[in-house]
Amino acid sequence: MPDTASQTSNRPPLPPEIGRRRTFAIISHPDAGKTTLTEKFLLYGGAIQMAGQVRAKGEARRTRSDFMKMEQDRGISVSASAMSFDYAGHRFNLVDTPGHSDFSEDTYRTLTAVDAAIMVIDGAKGVESQTRKLFEVCRLRDLPILTFCNKMDREARDTFEIIDEIQDSLAIDVTPASWPIGMGADFLGCYDLLHDRLELMDRADRNRLAQSVRLDGLDDPRMAEHIPASLLGQLRDEVQMARELLPAFDRQSFLEGHLTPIWFGSAINSFGVRELMEGIAEFGPPPQPQRANREVAPEETPVAGFVFKVQANMDPKHRDRVAFVRLASGHFQRGQKMLHVRSGKQMTVSAPVLFLAADREVTEEAWAGDIIGIPNHGQLRIGDALTEGEALKFTGIPSFAPELLRAARAGDPLKAKHLDKALMQFAEEGAARVFKPMVGSGFVVGVVGALQFDVLASRIELEYGLPVRFEPSQFTSARWVSGDKAAVEGFVNANKGHIATDHDGDLVYLTRLQWDIDRVGRDHPGVVLTATKEMHA
Ligand code: G4P
Repeated sequence: MPDTASQTSNRPPLPPEIGRRRTFAIISHPDAGKTTLTEKFLLYGGAIQMAGQVRAKGEARRTRSDFMKMEQDRGISVSASAMSFDYAGHRFNLVDTPGHSDFSEDTYRTLTAVDAAIMVIDGAKGVESQTRKLFEVCRLRDLPILTFCNKMDREARDTFEIIDEIQDSLAIDVTPASWPIGMGADFLGCYDLLHDRLELMDRADRNRLAQSVRLDGLDDPRMAEHIPASLLGQLRDEVQMARELLPAFDRQSFLEGHLTPIWFGSAINSFGVRELMEGIAEFGPPPQPQRANREVAPEETPVAGFVFKVQANMDPKHRDRVAFVRLASGHFQRGQKMLHVRSGKQMTVSAPVLFLAADREVTEEAWAGDIIGIPNHGQLRIGDALTEGEALKFTGIPSFAPELLRAARAGDPLKAKHLDKALMQFAEEGAARVFKPMVGSGFVVGVVGALQFDVLASRIELEYGLPVRFEPSQFTSARWVSGDKAAVEGFVNANKGHIATDHDGDLVYLTRLQWDIDRVGRDHPGVVLTATKEMHA
């Protein structure tokens, strides 16, 4: 297919292999239909053979992309993983985001690895709290967003109302890519406004894609063969109104994150899924330049990439760790020697893996935009850069100050040392902050959301065989300490009982009160306390 979409107006043409890549994430409030949509993408992308492989029937909700038992039990997706598949001449890299609000930090980092996001909303519920939060994260990075309004086979809100709500509450322009015909039990399908096609839902077979009828516009008399007169009149009126009131699709505005095209559909009925996939292929951005100490363009020949996620013990049988690397530039080949910038050491990447649903496959090559997994023994950490020699530092991969702190206690005191090791491993993985206080023993563990303590305890028990308790800590906040060397030394000496180091050895100030944090600003003018830390060497 001619790939006009692989060019964005002000950038040079990309090599075709890079230009055909689309790396994106799906964001949604829990229950809006992200898992179902993911499954349909994998199905029509040929990564799975039949629906139901992602979500085992009758069991708690889970996807094959959920690796851990915990999330299967709870029906939440805790970890992010990447799945690759081909569709319509494009290579799609779908990065799974954790759906639960407690994992927003992980989600944030995941979104640093993608070029676009699909926002799924429930047609009856509209924009929900988690949609809003995730949207804000996308906005911070100006990510282009495609919107999918799901569950149109159920009673949904009025179409204009849904669009208005998105425009008002998210402050983004919305343009309808399709327009629903009927709703709930009367939902027939959509009129595709971008291609003048009628898309009819197959109610008899949930896994059959829509029947597509090409038309010469809304006045085409063939419309009446498929749509009852009452709905047809309504459709024509509504579309006319929409064309008068709402902005037309403008690719540049979409790519800049100002305008979102919206498709209406029903993921469970496979309706709207193909149109959405075509939308990503046709309009979605190809791999974009990545922010580092300089901008790294995808078409640059030297290979460079950064770690945005580390997952330990994915396969409990092999105690391995996989670092997920977003390739920022070049054409990577298996066995390639890469510079691990943080350590200054060379590293031969001999078994890079691509993730095809639950199966990991060693890949011979990958291009800018792809996400590869690199099994390793702990050398690779979040924020690390791999290059062909340049000392690149990728930026914008923050570590947030935890909002909840607890003291970790080994269930078996004889195994305290093992617990220390396990905690450090999770800290390196980015699953928690682990602070070693200067005074006293033990560790203070910090997370962004309370559920993370349960996940940690369960993983430590499952993966290391160590029972652990997280007990209330005397501290409630943590801030990273930086600034003038002498001032920092003076500050540390005066506050020993509040100082700890994180797993990178960086200084952290632990406290109970916001007031303390404000006071430091006054009493120690050369000291800077920050709530985020850039994760790079
Ligand atoms: P999530 O990952 O965003 O949390 O949502 P998920 O796909 O798990 O979907 C949440 C629920 O919504 C599921 O029902 C799913 O079957 C249903 N659903 C998804 N898409 C549609 C749709 O287009 N129409 C309708 N009517 N329902 C849809 P559940 O009862 O929670 O789970 P299950 O019993 O189906 O496994």
